Amino acid sequence: MEHQTVFMRQACANHSYVCKHSRLKHLKRCYFGFSLVFGVNQNLASTGRSRLRHHGLEMTNPTPHLGHTAQSSRRALITGANTGIGFHAARALAAQGMKLTLACRSLEKAERARERILAESKVPADHLDTLALDLANLASVGDAASEFLDRGEPLDLLINNAGVAGLRGETTDGFELAFGVNHLGHFKWTLALMPALVQAAAPRIIHVASRAHERAPGIDFAAVQTSTRSRTGFPEYQVSKLANVLFSAELDRRLHGNDSPASASKICSYSLHPGVVATDVWREVPRLLRGFMKLFMISSEEGAATTVHCATDPQCAGQSGLYYDRCAPKTPSAIAQDPELARALWEHSSRWAQIELSL
Ligand SMILES: NC(=O)c1ccc[n+]([C@@H]2O[C@H](COP(=O)([O-])OP(=O)(O)OC[C@H]3O[C@@H](n4cnc5c(N)ncnc54)[C@H](OP(=O)(O)O)[C@@H]3O)[C@@H](O)[C@H]2O)c1
Repeated sequence: MEHQTVFMRQACANHSYVCKHSRLKHLKRCYFGFSLVFGVNQNLASTGRSRLRHHGLEMTNPTPHLGHTAQSSRRALITGANTGIGFHAARALAAQGMKLTLACRSLEKAERARERILAESKVPADHLDTLALDLANLASVGDAASEFLDRGEPLDLLINNAGVAGLRGETTDGFELAFGVNHLGHFKWTLALMPALVQAAAPRIIHVASRAHERAPGIDFAAVQTSTRSRTGFPEYQVSKLANVLFSAELDRRLHGNDSPASASKICSYSLHPGVVATDVWREVPRLLRGFMKLFMISSEEGAATTVHCATDPQCAGQSGLYYDRCAPKTPSAIAQDPELARALWEHSSRWAQIELSL
């Protein structure tokens, strides 16, 4: 559904583009988009209210608080935590007593999110801090990781949540925007933070991917080194989300290989689809249409449920390398399970981001 709605956004935002296409084609696309939006209701139903309640994320409870549990000594780092799914995951984890660092592109927005969580969740002020991170700039990624490592703290939970969808352009380093932010920035970020992850007792890494990965036919390694080519930016988004799923699986293979030290093999890596969620990711859709579409999406609280599940549920402990949807493991697309493609993506990414996995 997601990709069709992004397509609709572009089409509606750009009247001249719509005019270039036949009325029939446009109507077909709108019909498809709307039918997919309506299909989202299934998502809501099958996410399961009990799951949301279990994770303190039920819609009727905007300030989830499960009490200070076993999470209270854990430190989490979440990218893109100032809004949307990342914000609600951060708030739920803070309410469970976890110490959190909100790593965001804008420190001002990160500070506002921190203040809001402190006000709503009654967590101690020293449990929450912020870090500037621009995933579209590999130098900024390196600097932010060094700043975190300088604290000398173990990192129990890394949530790679930030993302862009349906935007066009390129990163500071010349990579396609969605690929650069959603995958390559997070690739460097994750490998750079490994020294802190290996110090934790049972570290987890969560990659917020998307069901949109199922539409990606593969990865064109030349195309991801140039500015966005499509009109909608959506084919590129699909590729970036395929990269998230492949990266998580390849990371799991490398961490759990025969030669891996014990400190690395205790790390679990998961990727997930959060659902189709009413967040700022749809910010460019014209307001009226956006309001209508959001009626059929799940809320940001509900969209955070699978992230919080993978972050905290004891059942996930032995399930590294899996892809999750609606708080349960799911088989990703066939191409997302291709170990050769995952290895090629890893090798390209390692060269482009100039970083190796050192354990
Ligand atoms: N919403 C959905 O239906 C849906 C479905 C499937 C998957 N997802 C995935 O869920 C994740 C969260 O998305 P969302 O829906 O919560 O979107 P959102 O509300 O737009 O939040 C995206 C977050 O990413 C941050 N971000 C964007 N570019 C960045 C950069 N260059 N460096 C650092 N941070 C950056 C944004 O910061 P600013 O606020 O400063 O822009 C924001 O905090 C994304 O990975 C998305 O692909 C969402």
